[in-house]
Amino acid sequence: ARITLRQLLDHAAEQGYGVPAFNINNMEQGLAIMEAADVVDAPVIMQASRGARTYANDIMLAKMIEALAEMYPHIPLCMHQDHGNNEATCLSAIQHGFTSVMMDGSLKDDAKTPADYDYNIAVTRRVVDAAHWVGASVEGELGVLGSLEHGAGEQEDGHGAEGGLSHDQLLTDPDQAVDFVARTKVDALAIAMGTSHGAYKFSRKPDGNILAMHVIEEIHRRLPGVHLVMHGSSSVPQELQDLFNASGGEMPQTWGVPVEEIVRGIRHGVRKVNIDTDCRLAMTAQFRKVAQNAKSEFDPRKFLKPAMDAMRDLCRERFELFGTAGQA
Ligand code: G3H
Ligand code: 13P
Ligand code: NA
Ligand code: ZN
Repeated sequence: ARITLRQLLDHAAEQGYGVPAFNINNMEQGLAIMEAADVVDAPVIMQASRGARTYANDIMLAKMIEALAEMYPHIPLCMHQDHGNNEATCLSAIQHGFTSVMMDGSLKDDAKTPADYDYNIAVTRRVVDAAHWVGASVEGELGVLGSLEHGAGEQEDGHGAEGGLSHDQLLTDPDQAVDFVARTKVDALAIAMGTSHGAYKFSRKPDGNILAMHVIEEIHRRLPGVHLVMHGSSSVPQELQDLFNASGGEMPQTWGVPVEEIVRGIRHGVRKVNIDTDCRLAMTAQFRKVAQNAKSEFDPRKFLKPAMDAMRDLCRERFELFGTAGQA
């Protein structure tokens, strides 16, 4: 059954678990997530970026979600707009059956240029008002994450950095978070806590203290009713990089966010954990493997089925490790 982000994350907070939010662009990814959720009895957040909506078409996505909800009526399903850039993106998502939207006002509506605080508050508040009139939830974002386009740059300590900003400047200010939530009334808040988007987060193996746990704890202590969202939460597993490269890929060595770090975040108020890169890598490593091992194969299903299975297994593991399993 359909559920809003607010309903799902209120339950997650009560029970102390986190929910992975997996990006989808096509039927195979939707099926993979639902199969995994069904096996372990987990509630689901699926999210579509603006790029996903352009790729698949809004009508196709809407009917797909309807089909998935009908196939798995016992699984709570939240459909969320990832990184909405303005009011039109968010409201048209709700029109197409999304139960939740992210208004990312940390960037201007070009989705590139950092926006000022007053702009972020004003645009987010407008989306919250409209979404709440029709029963949808809203996630806001406060703080500078690694670039959506280029991933984060790298500092010598292996921590991602964006445009020469220091590690501290990349972290959300707790005082500002309190003010932002009071003035926008968002249901969930994405904060900058040391992660960045994409595969290239860290240039060396993280030492186990990559998340700004003090910032997470402080914001959670002062805003206990607000659900924290962690973007850039792919772990970029070594075995997936190895399979990709053993199958003719040329992906430079990289490190993501260790799953144990995400679990620590969940203990301190992180409820929604955004994962896209890991799913992409799990699927594409299988495409490469089939292409390399079965050079005469031309049935797309022979590529897509192992890719789907690999994504399903990855999703299942995240549901189990984040405590989502058994909560449907
Ligand atoms: O945060 C961005 C997500 O990974 C979506 O990426 O815009 O290429 O669909 P995309
Ligand atoms: P990853 O690139 O780490 O998977 O992050 C995805 C994300 O934050 C989507 O909003
Ligand atoms: Na999002
Ligand atoms: Zn994101």
